[in-house]
Amino acid sequence: MKTHLLALALLVGACLSLPVRAQSYTPTEENLKSRQEFRDARFGIFLHWGLYAMLATGEWTMTNNNLNYKEYAKLAGGFYPSKFNAAEWVAAIKASGAKYICFTSRHHEGFSMFDTKYSDYNVVDATPFKRDILKELADECHKQGIRLHLYYSHLDWYREDYPWGRTGRGTGRPDAKGNWPSYYQFMNNQLTELLTNYGPIGAIWFDGWWDQDQNSDFDWQLPGQYELIHKLQPACLVGNNHHQVPFEGEDIQIFERDLPGENKAGLSGQDISSLPLETCETMNGMWGYKITDQNYKSTKTLIHYLVKAAGKDANLLMNIGPQPDGCLPQVAVERLKEMGEWIKTYGETIYGTRGGCVAPHPWGVTTQKGDRLFVHILDLQDKALFLPLEGQKVKRAMDFASRQALKFKRVDGGIVLQLDEIPTEVDKVVELQLD
Ligand code: GLC
Repeated sequence: MKTHLLALALLVGACLSLPVRAQSYTPTEENLKSRQEFRDARFGIFLHWGLYAMLATGEWTMTNNNLNYKEYAKLAGGFYPSKFNAAEWVAAIKASGAKYICFTSRHHEGFSMFDTKYSDYNVVDATPFKRDILKELADECHKQGIRLHLYYSHLDWYREDYPWGRTGRGTGRPDAKGNWPSYYQFMNNQLTELLTNYGPIGAIWFDGWWDQDQNSDFDWQLPGQYELIHKLQPACLVGNNHHQVPFEGEDIQIFERDLPGENKAGLSGQDISSLPLETCETMNGMWGYKITDQNYKSTKTLIHYLVKAAGKDANLLMNIGPQPDGCLPQVAVERLKEMGEWIKTYGETIYGTRGGCVAPHPWGVTTQKGDRLFVHILDLQDKALFLPLEGQKVKRAMDFASRQALKFKRVDGGIVLQLDEIPTEVDKVVELQLD
Protein backbone atom coordinates (compact mmCIF):
# COMPACT_ATOMS: atom_id res chain seq x y z
CA MET A 1 0.00 0.00 0.00
CA LYS A 2 2.75 2.37 1.07
CA THR A 3 4.73 1.65 -2.13
CA HIS A 4 1.62 2.37 -4.17
CA LEU A 5 1.20 5.71 -2.50
CA LEU A 6 4.84 6.53 -3.10
CA ALA A 7 4.56 5.59 -6.76
CA LEU A 8 1.43 7.71 -7.06
CA ALA A 9 3.14 10.64 -5.37
CA LEU A 10 6.10 10.35 -7.74
CA LEU A 11 3.79 10.18 -10.73
CA VAL A 12 1.84 13.24 -9.59
CA GLY A 13 5.11 15.03 -8.89
CA ALA A 14 6.39 14.23 -12.36
CA CYS A 15 3.13 15.39 -13.94
CA LEU A 16 3.09 18.56 -11.89
CA SER A 17 6.60 19.42 -12.90
CA LEU A 18 5.69 19.14 -16.58
CA PRO A 19 3.92 22.46 -17.04
CA VAL A 20 6.84 24.18 -15.35
CA ARG A 21 9.24 22.62 -17.80
CA ALA A 22 6.93 23.42 -20.68
CA GLN A 23 7.13 27.10 -19.72
CA SER A 24 10.88 27.05 -19.73
CA TYR A 25 12.68 29.84 -21.53
CA THR A 26 13.02 29.63 -25.28
CA PRO A 27 15.06 32.50 -26.69
CA THR A 28 13.57 34.29 -29.67
CA GLU A 29 15.24 34.50 -33.08
CA GLU A 30 16.31 38.09 -32.36
CA ASN A 31 17.83 36.97 -29.11
CA LEU A 32 19.79 34.16 -30.72
CA LYS A 33 21.07 36.57 -33.36
CA SER A 34 22.09 39.01 -30.68
CA ARG A 35 23.96 36.24 -28.81
CA GLN A 36 25.86 35.52 -31.97
CA GLU A 37 26.77 39.18 -32.46
CA PHE A 38 27.82 39.37 -28.85
CA ARG A 39 30.06 36.35 -29.27
CA ASP A 40 31.58 37.75 -32.42
CA ALA A 41 32.33 41.09 -30.73
CA ARG A 42 34.80 39.51 -28.28
CA PHE A 43 35.86 42.78 -26.67
CA GLY A 44 33.97 45.32 -24.57
CA ILE A 45 34.78 48.13 -22.17
CA PHE A 46 33.17 48.29 -18.74
CA LEU A 47 32.61 51.72 -17.19
CA HIS A 48 32.00 52.03 -13.45
CA TRP A 49 30.84 55.53 -12.76
CA GLY A 50 28.74 56.92 -9.96
CA LEU A 51 28.93 59.26 -6.97
CA TYR A 52 31.67 57.02 -5.57
CA ALA A 53 34.05 58.48 -8.16
CA MET A 54 34.11 61.65 -6.03
CA LEU A 55 35.42 59.80 -2.98
CA ALA A 56 37.98 58.20 -5.29
CA THR A 57 38.33 55.01 -3.25
CA GLY A 58 36.36 52.58 -5.39
CA GLU A 59 32.67 51.74 -5.76
CA TRP A 60 32.41 49.82 -2.49
CA THR A 61 33.50 52.75 -0.34
CA MET A 62 30.02 53.38 1.05
CA THR A 63 29.81 50.04 2.80
CA ASN A 64 33.53 49.53 3.34
CA ASN A 65 33.63 52.71 5.40
CA ASN A 66 30.12 52.40 6.82
CA LEU A 67 29.09 55.74 5.38
CA ASN A 68 25.63 56.80 6.46
CA TYR A 69 23.22 56.68 3.53
CA LYS A 70 21.82 60.15 4.15
CA GLU A 71 25.25 61.71 4.45
CA TYR A 72 26.52 59.85 1.39
CA ALA A 73 23.56 61.07 -0.65
CA LYS A 74 24.78 64.64 -0.14
CA LEU A 75 27.59 63.89 -2.55
CA ALA A 76 25.02 64.29 -5.31
CA GLY A 77 24.77 68.01 -4.58
CA GLY A 78 28.40 68.39 -5.59
CA PHE A 79 28.45 66.07 -8.59
CA TYR A 80 29.40 68.23 -11.53
CA PRO A 81 31.65 66.35 -13.98
CA SER A 82 32.39 69.46 -15.99
CA LYS A 83 34.56 67.69 -18.54
CA PHE A 84 32.16 64.86 -19.34
CA ASN A 85 31.92 64.43 -23.09
CA ALA A 86 30.19 61.29 -24.29
CA ALA A 87 31.51 61.71 -27.84
CA GLU A 88 35.09 61.68 -26.54
CA TRP A 89 34.49 58.64 -24.36
CA VAL A 90 32.94 56.65 -27.14
CA ALA A 91 35.64 57.66 -29.63
CA ALA A 92 38.43 56.68 -27.20
CA ILE A 93 36.76 53.36 -26.52
CA LYS A 94 36.12 52.65 -30.18
CA ALA A 95 39.76 53.36 -30.91
CA SER A 96 40.68 50.36 -28.76
CA GLY A 97 38.76 48.01 -31.02
CA ALA A 98 36.13 47.34 -28.37
CA LYS A 99 32.72 46.58 -29.86
CA TYR A 100 30.56 47.36 -26.86
CA ILE A 101 30.38 49.43 -23.70
CA CYS A 102 28.82 48.29 -20.45
CA PHE A 103 27.85 51.25 -18.29
CA THR A 104 26.77 51.26 -14.63
CA SER A 105 23.25 52.68 -14.78
CA ARG A 106 22.94 52.19 -11.02
CA HIS A 107 25.53 50.55 -8.79
CA HIS A 108 25.25 49.23 -5.22
CA GLU A 109 25.33 52.80 -3.83
CA GLY A 110 21.80 53.15 -5.26
CA PHE A 111 22.35 56.33 -7.27
CA SER A 112 20.82 56.32 -10.77
CA MET A 113 23.08 57.69 -13.47
CA PHE A 114 20.02 58.30 -15.63
CA ASP A 115 16.80 60.26 -15.56
CA THR A 116 14.30 58.14 -13.68
CA LYS A 117 10.76 58.94 -12.59
CA TYR A 118 10.94 56.43 -9.81
CA SER A 119 13.53 58.06 -7.56
CA ASP A 120 14.82 61.62 -7.19
CA TYR A 121 18.19 60.17 -6.29
CA ASN A 122 19.40 60.47 -9.86
CA VAL A 123 21.85 62.44 -11.93
CA VAL A 124 19.25 64.83 -13.35
CA ASP A 125 17.22 65.65 -10.23
CA ALA A 126 19.82 65.43 -7.48
CA THR A 127 22.90 67.04 -9.01
CA PRO A 128 23.75 70.54 -10.27
CA PHE A 129 24.91 68.86 -13.49
CA LYS A 130 21.28 68.04 -14.38
CA ARG A 131 22.25 66.10 -17.51
CA ASP A 132 21.11 62.60 -18.26
CA ILE A 133 24.53 61.03 -18.59
CA LEU A 134 23.15 57.75 -19.81
CA LYS A 135 21.12 59.46 -22.52
CA GLU A 136 24.18 61.30 -23.82
CA LEU A 137 26.21 58.12 -23.75
CA ALA A 138 23.47 56.06 -25.41
CA ASP A 139 22.96 58.62 -28.19
CA GLU A 140 26.69 58.71 -28.84
CA CYS A 141 26.98 54.91 -28.86
CA HIS A 142 24.20 54.67 -31.40
CA LYS A 143 25.71 57.45 -33.47
CA GLN A 144 29.21 55.96 -33.47
CA GLY A 145 27.91 52.43 -33.94
CA ILE A 146 28.96 50.68 -30.76
CA ARG A 147 26.69 48.46 -28.76
CA LEU A 148 25.55 49.56 -25.28
CA HIS A 149 25.06 47.24 -22.33
CA LEU A 150 23.78 48.32 -18.95
CA TYR A 151 25.01 47.17 -15.59
CA TYR A 152 22.18 47.17 -13.05
CA SER A 153 22.68 46.41 -9.37
CA HIS A 154 20.20 44.12 -7.71
CA LEU A 155 21.27 45.23 -4.28
CA ASP A 156 20.96 48.76 -2.96
CA TRP A 157 22.74 50.26 0.06
CA TYR A 158 20.59 53.40 -0.06
CA ARG A 159 16.95 52.44 -0.45
CA GLU A 160 14.99 51.56 2.65
CA ASP A 161 12.80 49.06 0.82
CA TYR A 162 15.72 46.85 -0.24
CA PRO A 163 15.80 44.01 2.33
CA TRP A 164 19.09 43.78 4.20
CA GLY A 165 21.61 41.47 2.64
CA ARG A 166 25.07 40.59 3.85
CA THR A 167 26.64 43.88 2.70
CA GLY A 168 25.77 47.51 3.36
CA ARG A 169 24.61 46.90 6.92
CA GLY A 170 26.47 49.86 8.33
CA THR A 171 24.93 52.49 6.07
CA GLY A 172 22.15 53.30 8.51
CA ARG A 173 19.19 51.97 6.55
CA PRO A 174 16.62 51.33 9.25
CA ASP A 175 14.40 48.40 8.33
CA ALA A 176 16.17 45.06 8.15
CA LYS A 177 13.21 43.47 6.38
CA GLY A 178 12.70 46.22 3.84
CA ASN A 179 9.72 46.01 1.58
CA TRP A 180 10.46 43.52 -1.16
CA PRO A 181 7.32 44.04 -3.29
CA SER A 182 8.01 47.76 -3.37
CA TYR A 183 11.71 47.29 -4.23
CA TYR A 184 10.99 44.67 -6.89
CA GLN A 185 8.46 46.97 -8.51
CA PHE A 186 10.97 49.83 -8.36
CA MET A 187 13.62 47.76 -10.17
CA ASN A 188 11.18 46.63 -12.83
CA ASN A 189 9.99 50.21 -13.34
CA GLN A 190 13.56 51.35 -13.81
CA LEU A 191 14.38 48.48 -16.14
CA THR A 192 11.34 49.46 -18.19
CA GLU A 193 12.70 53.00 -18.42
CA LEU A 194 16.14 51.75 -19.38
CA LEU A 195 14.72 49.57 -22.11
CA THR A 196 12.29 52.18 -23.40
CA ASN A 197 14.11 55.51 -23.34
CA TYR A 198 17.63 54.72 -24.52
CA GLY A 199 17.26 52.89 -27.81
CA PRO A 200 18.48 49.34 -28.35
CA ILE A 201 20.30 47.92 -25.33
CA GLY A 202 22.57 44.97 -26.01
CA ALA A 203 22.43 43.47 -22.54
CA ILE A 204 21.37 44.00 -18.96
CA TRP A 205 24.25 43.00 -16.71
CA PHE A 206 22.95 42.24 -13.22
CA ASP A 207 25.12 42.17 -10.13
CA GLY A 208 24.46 41.70 -6.44
CA TRP A 209 22.44 38.47 -6.33
CA TRP A 210 25.05 37.14 -3.94
CA ASP A 211 24.07 39.75 -1.35
CA GLN A 212 21.22 37.47 -0.21
CA ASP A 213 23.12 34.19 -0.38
CA GLN A 214 22.95 33.76 3.39
CA ASN A 215 19.21 34.28 3.37
CA SER A 216 18.16 30.85 2.15
CA ASP A 217 14.50 31.59 1.43
CA PHE A 218 15.09 34.86 -0.34
CA ASP A 219 13.46 34.87 -3.78
CA TRP A 220 14.73 37.46 -6.25
CA GLN A 221 11.85 36.62 -8.61
CA LEU A 222 14.25 36.63 -11.51
CA PRO A 223 12.08 34.79 -14.06
CA GLY A 224 9.50 37.60 -14.05
CA GLN A 225 12.19 40.22 -14.35
CA TYR A 226 13.97 38.45 -17.17
CA GLU A 227 10.68 37.99 -18.97
CA LEU A 228 10.01 41.72 -18.72
CA ILE A 229 13.39 42.48 -20.29
CA HIS A 230 12.87 40.03 -23.12
CA LYS A 231 9.37 41.37 -23.71
CA LEU A 232 10.58 44.97 -23.92
CA GLN A 233 13.60 44.20 -26.09
CA PRO A 234 13.81 40.61 -27.30
CA ALA A 235 17.40 41.10 -28.51
CA CYS A 236 18.56 42.35 -25.13
CA LEU A 237 20.71 39.70 -23.50
CA VAL A 238 20.37 38.95 -19.82
CA GLY A 239 23.51 38.27 -17.82
CA ASN A 240 23.92 37.97 -14.08
CA ASN A 241 27.19 38.18 -12.17
CA HIS A 242 25.96 35.72 -9.55
CA HIS A 243 29.05 33.51 -9.88
CA GLN A 244 26.81 30.46 -10.46
CA VAL A 245 26.03 28.41 -13.54
CA PRO A 246 23.45 30.38 -15.54
CA PHE A 247 19.86 30.45 -14.33
CA GLU A 248 16.81 29.94 -16.52
CA GLY A 249 16.20 32.99 -18.70
CA GLU A 250 19.82 34.11 -18.92
CA ASP A 251 21.49 34.52 -22.29
CA ILE A 252 25.17 34.84 -21.40
CA GLN A 253 27.44 33.49 -18.69
CA ILE A 254 29.58 35.95 -16.79
CA PHE A 255 32.89 35.36 -15.01
CA GLU A 256 34.50 37.91 -12.73
CA ARG A 257 38.25 38.44 -12.70
CA ASP A 258 39.01 34.97 -14.01
CA LEU A 259 38.90 33.28 -17.35
CA PRO A 260 36.28 30.53 -17.64
CA GLY A 261 37.53 27.44 -15.85
CA GLU A 262 40.03 29.34 -13.69
CA ASN A 263 39.58 30.55 -10.17
CA LYS A 264 42.46 32.69 -9.01
CA ALA A 265 40.30 35.49 -7.62
CA GLY A 266 38.02 33.12 -5.71
CA LEU A 267 34.76 34.16 -7.36
CA SER A 268 34.64 31.54 -10.08
CA GLY A 269 35.09 27.83 -10.53
CA GLN A 270 31.50 27.29 -11.64
CA ASP A 271 30.87 24.98 -14.60
CA ILE A 272 31.04 26.47 -18.05
CA SER A 273 27.73 26.48 -19.91
CA SER A 274 27.06 26.49 -23.63
CA LEU A 275 25.94 30.14 -23.50
CA PRO A 276 28.19 32.91 -24.80
CA LEU A 277 30.84 33.64 -22.18
CA GLU A 278 32.21 36.90 -20.88
CA THR A 279 34.86 37.61 -18.33
CA CYS A 280 35.37 41.01 -16.72
CA GLU A 281 38.65 42.41 -15.44
CA THR A 282 39.97 45.70 -14.11
CA MET A 283 42.56 47.75 -15.97
CA ASN A 284 44.15 48.76 -12.67
CA GLY A 285 42.96 47.05 -9.48
CA MET A 286 39.56 48.65 -8.88
CA TRP A 287 36.26 48.99 -10.73
CA GLY A 288 35.33 52.50 -9.63
CA TYR A 289 37.85 55.36 -9.79
CA LYS A 290 40.57 55.01 -7.14
CA ILE A 291 42.95 57.93 -6.93
CA THR A 292 45.78 55.97 -5.32
CA ASP A 293 45.67 53.12 -7.82
CA GLN A 294 47.96 53.90 -10.71
CA ASN A 295 48.84 50.27 -11.04
CA TYR A 296 47.56 49.87 -14.57
CA LYS A 297 48.21 46.63 -16.37
CA SER A 298 50.59 46.98 -19.27
CA THR A 299 49.25 46.99 -22.82
CA LYS A 300 50.92 43.63 -23.31
CA THR A 301 49.11 42.16 -20.30
CA LEU A 302 45.80 43.58 -21.53
CA ILE A 303 46.29 42.13 -24.99
CA HIS A 304 47.18 38.80 -23.43
CA TYR A 305 43.90 38.88 -21.44
CA LEU A 306 41.95 39.52 -24.61
CA VAL A 307 43.70 36.79 -26.53
CA LYS A 308 43.43 34.27 -23.71
CA ALA A 309 39.73 35.03 -23.30
CA ALA A 310 39.17 34.50 -27.03
CA GLY A 311 41.15 31.26 -26.80
CA LYS A 312 38.68 30.14 -24.16
CA ASP A 313 35.80 31.17 -26.39
CA ALA A 314 34.98 34.10 -24.12
CA ASN A 315 34.62 37.86 -24.47
CA LEU A 316 36.73 40.23 -22.44
CA LEU A 317 34.99 43.11 -20.68
CA MET A 318 37.82 45.39 -19.57
CA ASN A 319 37.00 48.00 -16.96
CA ILE A 320 37.80 51.69 -16.62
CA GLY A 321 36.72 53.90 -13.70
CA PRO A 322 36.10 57.45 -15.01
CA GLN A 323 37.24 60.39 -12.88
CA PRO A 324 34.88 62.70 -10.98
CA ASP A 325 35.61 65.48 -13.49
CA GLY A 326 34.12 63.34 -16.25
CA CYS A 327 37.37 62.32 -17.96
CA LEU A 328 38.62 58.83 -18.51
CA PRO A 329 41.99 58.46 -16.75
CA GLN A 330 44.81 59.37 -19.13
CA VAL A 331 46.63 56.07 -18.68
CA ALA A 332 43.47 54.18 -19.56
CA VAL A 333 43.07 56.22 -22.74
CA GLU A 334 46.66 55.40 -23.71
CA ARG A 335 46.05 51.71 -23.11
CA LEU A 336 42.93 51.86 -25.26
CA LYS A 337 44.88 53.43 -28.07
CA GLU A 338 47.66 50.89 -27.89
CA MET A 339 45.26 47.96 -27.80
CA GLY A 340 43.60 49.45 -30.85
CA GLU A 341 46.88 49.59 -32.71
CA TRP A 342 47.44 45.91 -32.05
CA ILE A 343 43.87 45.08 -33.06
CA LYS A 344 44.26 46.89 -36.37
CA THR A 345 46.63 44.14 -37.43
CA TYR A 346 45.34 41.19 -35.46
CA GLY A 347 41.59 41.89 -35.04
CA GLU A 348 40.78 39.28 -37.64
CA THR A 349 42.23 36.59 -35.37
CA ILE A 350 39.94 37.71 -32.51
CA TYR A 351 36.60 39.06 -33.81
CA GLY A 352 34.16 36.45 -34.98
CA THR A 353 36.42 33.59 -33.92
CA ARG A 354 35.71 30.71 -31.58
CA GLY A 355 38.08 29.01 -29.18
CA GLY A 356 40.36 26.95 -31.44
CA CYS A 357 40.69 23.19 -31.69
CA VAL A 358 44.00 23.23 -29.81
CA ALA A 359 43.13 23.83 -26.15
CA PRO A 360 44.91 26.60 -24.20
CA HIS A 361 48.49 25.81 -23.22
CA PRO A 362 51.07 27.64 -21.09
CA TRP A 363 52.60 28.98 -24.34
CA GLY A 364 49.32 30.49 -25.54
CA VAL A 365 45.97 29.75 -27.12
CA THR A 366 44.31 29.17 -30.46
CA THR A 367 41.31 30.82 -32.05
CA GLN A 368 39.53 29.59 -35.13
CA LYS A 369 37.34 30.68 -38.01
CA GLY A 370 36.24 27.71 -40.05
CA ASP A 371 39.36 26.02 -41.40
CA ARG A 372 41.66 28.88 -40.38
CA LEU A 373 43.37 28.17 -37.09
CA PHE A 374 45.16 31.10 -35.43
CA VAL A 375 47.93 30.05 -33.12
CA HIS A 376 48.61 32.84 -30.61
CA ILE A 377 52.08 32.34 -29.20
CA LEU A 378 52.31 34.46 -26.07
CA ASP A 379 55.16 32.92 -24.19
CA LEU A 380 57.54 30.46 -25.82
CA GLN A 381 61.19 29.80 -25.05
CA ASP A 382 61.92 27.72 -28.12
CA LYS A 383 62.10 28.08 -31.87
CA ALA A 384 59.74 25.16 -32.33
CA LEU A 385 56.25 24.43 -31.11
CA PHE A 386 54.38 21.14 -30.97
CA LEU A 387 50.67 21.43 -31.76
CA PRO A 388 48.53 18.41 -30.88
CA LEU A 389 46.55 18.30 -34.12
CA GLU A 390 45.89 14.59 -34.07
CA GLY A 391 43.89 13.53 -37.09
CA GLN A 392 43.86 17.04 -38.60
CA LYS A 393 45.47 17.81 -41.91
CA VAL A 394 47.45 21.03 -42.05
CA LYS A 395 47.76 22.43 -45.56
CA ARG A 396 49.79 25.55 -44.88
CA ALA A 397 51.36 27.53 -42.08
CA MET A 398 52.20 31.20 -42.25
CA ASP A 399 53.04 34.15 -40.10
CA PHE A 400 49.72 35.96 -39.83
CA ALA A 401 51.03 39.51 -40.04
CA SER A 402 53.61 39.12 -42.81
CA ARG A 403 51.88 36.24 -44.67
CA GLN A 404 55.32 34.57 -44.91
CA ALA A 405 55.14 30.80 -45.16
CA LEU A 406 56.42 28.87 -42.15
CA LYS A 407 57.88 25.39 -42.04
CA PHE A 408 56.21 22.61 -40.12
CA LYS A 409 56.76 18.91 -39.74
CA ARG A 410 54.21 16.19 -39.25
CA VAL A 411 54.98 14.14 -36.17
CA ASP A 412 53.16 11.58 -34.13
CA GLY A 413 49.98 13.19 -32.74
CA GLY A 414 50.28 16.51 -34.55
CA ILE A 415 52.75 18.89 -36.08
CA VAL A 416 55.85 20.77 -35.02
CA LEU A 417 55.95 24.37 -36.16
CA GLN A 418 59.37 25.68 -36.98
CA LEU A 419 59.94 29.35 -36.33
CA ASP A 420 62.90 31.41 -37.51
CA GLU A 421 63.58 32.64 -34.03
CA ILE A 422 62.25 32.57 -30.49
CA PRO A 423 59.16 34.82 -30.65
CA THR A 424 59.53 38.19 -28.95
CA GLU A 425 56.30 39.78 -30.18
CA VAL A 426 53.46 40.60 -27.76
CA ASP A 427 51.62 37.85 -29.56
CA LYS A 428 53.15 35.93 -32.43
CA VAL A 429 50.22 34.78 -34.53
CA VAL A 430 50.67 31.85 -36.86
CA GLU A 431 47.85 30.98 -39.21
CA LEU A 432 47.30 27.37 -40.14
CA GLN A 433 45.16 26.38 -43.04
CA LEU A 434 43.39 23.18 -42.04
CA ASP A 435 41.96 20.80 -44.54
C1 GLC B 1 31.62 42.80 -8.02
C2 GLC B 1 31.45 44.06 -7.25
C3 GLC B 1 31.21 45.24 -8.05
C4 GLC B 1 31.65 45.25 -9.46
C5 GLC B 1 31.52 43.93 -10.11
C6 GLC B 1 32.09 43.92 -11.49
O1 GLC B 1 30.57 41.95 -8.00
O2 GLC B 1 30.45 43.99 -6.29
O3 GLC B 1 31.57 46.37 -7.38
O4 GLC B 1 30.78 46.08 -10.11
O5 GLC B 1 32.05 42.95 -9.35
O6 GLC B 1 32.30 42.67 -11.95
